[in-house]
Amino acid sequence: MCGIVGYIGKRNAVPIVMEGLKRLEYRGYDSCGIAVLHDNQMDVEKIAGKVDDLQSRLAQAHWASEIAIGHTRWATHGEPDQKNAHPQVSMSGDIAVVHNGIIENFLPLKRELQNNGYNFSSDTDSEVIAALISTAYAGNLEAAVQEALSRIIGAYGIAVLSTREPGKIVCARYGAPLIMGLGKEEFFVASDVAAILAHTKDVIYLDNGEIGILTADGYETLTRKNESISKEVHRVSFDLAAIERGGFEHFMLKEIFEQPQTIYDAMRGRLLPQDGNARLGGIADDIGTILHADQRYFTACGTSWHAALIGEMMFEQFAHLPAEVEYASEFRYREPLVDKRSVIFAISQSGETADTLAAIQEAKSHGATALGICNVVGSSIARETKAGIYIHAGPEIGVASTKAFTSQVTVLTLLTLRLARMMGMSEEQGLEIVESLQKLPEQVEWILNQADRIAKIAQVYAKARNFLYLGRGVNFPVALEGALKLKEISYIHAEGYPAAEMKHGPIALIDEDMPVVFLAPKDKTYDKILSNIQEVKARKGRVIVVATEGDKEIADLADHVIYVPAALAFTAPILNVIPLQLLAYYVAVERGCNVDQPRNLAKSVTVE
Ligand code: G6P
Repeated sequence: MCGIVGYIGKRNAVPIVMEGLKRLEYRGYDSCGIAVLHDNQMDVEKIAGKVDDLQSRLAQAHWASEIAIGHTRWATHGEPDQKNAHPQVSMSGDIAVVHNGIIENFLPLKRELQNNGYNFSSDTDSEVIAALISTAYAGNLEAAVQEALSRIIGAYGIAVLSTREPGKIVCARYGAPLIMGLGKEEFFVASDVAAILAHTKDVIYLDNGEIGILTADGYETLTRKNESISKEVHRVSFDLAAIERGGFEHFMLKEIFEQPQTIYDAMRGRLLPQDGNARLGGIADDIGTILHADQRYFTACGTSWHAALIGEMMFEQFAHLPAEVEYASEFRYREPLVDKRSVIFAISQSGETADTLAAIQEAKSHGATALGICNVVGSSIARETKAGIYIHAGPEIGVASTKAFTSQVTVLTLLTLRLARMMGMSEEQGLEIVESLQKLPEQVEWILNQADRIAKIAQVYAKARNFLYLGRGVNFPVALEGALKLKEISYIHAEGYPAAEMKHGPIALIDEDMPVVFLAPKDKTYDKILSNIQEVKARKGRVIVVATEGDKEIADLADHVIYVPAALAFTAPILNVIPLQLLAYYVAVERGCNVDQPRNLAKSVTVE
C-alpha cells in the first residue's frame, strides 16, 4: 500500500528517488518522505501531503547525494502527519528506515525499548524497526538488520540507510513486495517495478526472509540464515509508456480505453479457433486436478471478487462444475472444508493483496492445490501458488480497477471453455464461444465510441447522493462492480443488487432523486427486467439502462439508454461493465474528484 524506492550509484539520487515516488504515488498518497546520506550525515525531509509538495520543499534545499531512500505512505498505525511519515529515523539519528507492511508485535517491542530508555517520536509500528536496528548495530549493518528482523512478527518490505556505513542500502522482504533493480554502476530498490523502470528493466525479486545489500559497486543477496545466494535476474516485459498517462487526463480513463487491446492480450495464443477450445499453458498440468476436485473455491477481494462471482457462475452453467466464491478475508476464518482434494483459485490484479495471500496459505496448509489468476508477473501470489494464469493486462495504475477486471473475466471464460469442453460441451458450442470471444475487442471499441454520450449522461446524475445498480445472472456481479466503481471514485453511495431482489428492500429507497442503473440485455430474463424497470418508474425513479443494440422498446421506458452489442452469456459481462466504468469515471470528473487517487483507498492492500 505504501511505496518504497531507493538509489545508490554515481548520479544524484534525489531526483531519481523523487521521480520514483511520483510513479509510486498511486499505491499510497497521504504522506511521503526521503532520506539522503551526505558527508556521513543523514538528511530527512518528510511531509503530510503529496509527492509534488515534497518536491517543492526539496527544490529550495538543493540536496545532492549518491544514495537515498524514499517512501509514499498509506497510513496504518498513526495519522498521516509529518512525524508518522517515513523514513522513520532512530533516536540517535544513525538509522533511517522506509517500511511497507505491518509489524504485529510492535507494541511489546516498543515497550521493551522504552523501558531501556528509548524515546519514540512517532505513532508508527515502523519506528520500532529503526530502533531495533540502531540498538543491534555492532559494526555491520546487514547483521543488525537481520538481528532486528528476527524479533519482528508481521510483514515488511524495508530499505535502510545508516550513517555508520554510508555507502550501502540494506533492504529486506517478508510478505510485502520488494525488488532490486540493476543498472550500470547503479542499483535500485523498490516496492514496484514502476518506480525504477525509467532506469532499468533488470530486476531481482526478493523472496520472503531474504536481504539485499546494495553498494555503488554491486549487490549481494542473503538468505534468512545469512548465506549468500545468487538470484535470477528478470527482464521486465513492459515499457515506460505502459506506466504513463499517454495523453489521457487520468490513468483510469487510459486503462478503460486500453481494454480492446488488453482483452485481446488475455486471449492471445490461448484460443484454439479450429477446435472451439482454449489452451492455458500455465495450468496445463493441473486441469485434471481442477476437473476432479471435490471442492473448487475462488477467493479474492474487491473487483477481483466480482470477477470470481462471474467465474463461479460460468463454471456451473457451462462446465457443470460446482464452485464457491469467498472473500479472501473471510475464507481463512470460516474454517472452510478444504483438503488435498480441493482447488483454490486466487484472483488478484496486484498479486500482493494480504488477505488473498493469507487465504492461499490457509488452503495450502490443508493440502489444497492453490492456483493463481494474477496480473503482476513475479508477484507474491503468483509465486505462492502452484501454477496459474497471467492475465497480461499490463500495469494498472488507476486505483479503481478496470482493465484488470475485464481481463480476469476473459481468462475465466477461457478456463471455463477448456473445462466445459472436457465435460462434454459440443465442438459446435465451443466454436460459437470462441467466435464471440474473438469479437470482443471490436465490440468494446464500439462501446468506447459512446464515451462522449456517457459523459453527458453522467452530468445529469453527478449530484445524486445514492445510486442503485441492478442486474441478473452474470450481470449481477457486473451491477456490483458498477456500484463499486462509482463509490470508489465519486464517493456517491451505490449498491448493486440482483434485480428481482429490489422488491425485498431497496425499492423503499426509490424516489425521483434515485438513479437506478439496469443491466438489461436481451437474454432469458429480459422480460422480468422490463417489469423491474416499470416498478422503478412507477415510483418516479430515474432509469439508466445498458441494453442490447437495437432494443427500441426499452428506450421508451428508460430515461437514458446506453447500447452494447448483442453477446452470448459468456461474453456479456465483459461488454456490459464498460459503460458502467465510463459512467463512474465521468460522474467523478464532474464532481471534481481525484479519480486516480481516491480518498482513503490504495491500489494494493498489503495489510489484512
Ligand atoms: C484494492 C483496490 C481494488 C482491488 C482490490 C483487490 O481494494 O483498490 O481495486 O480490486 O484491492 O486487489 P487485487 O490486486 O488483489 O485484485
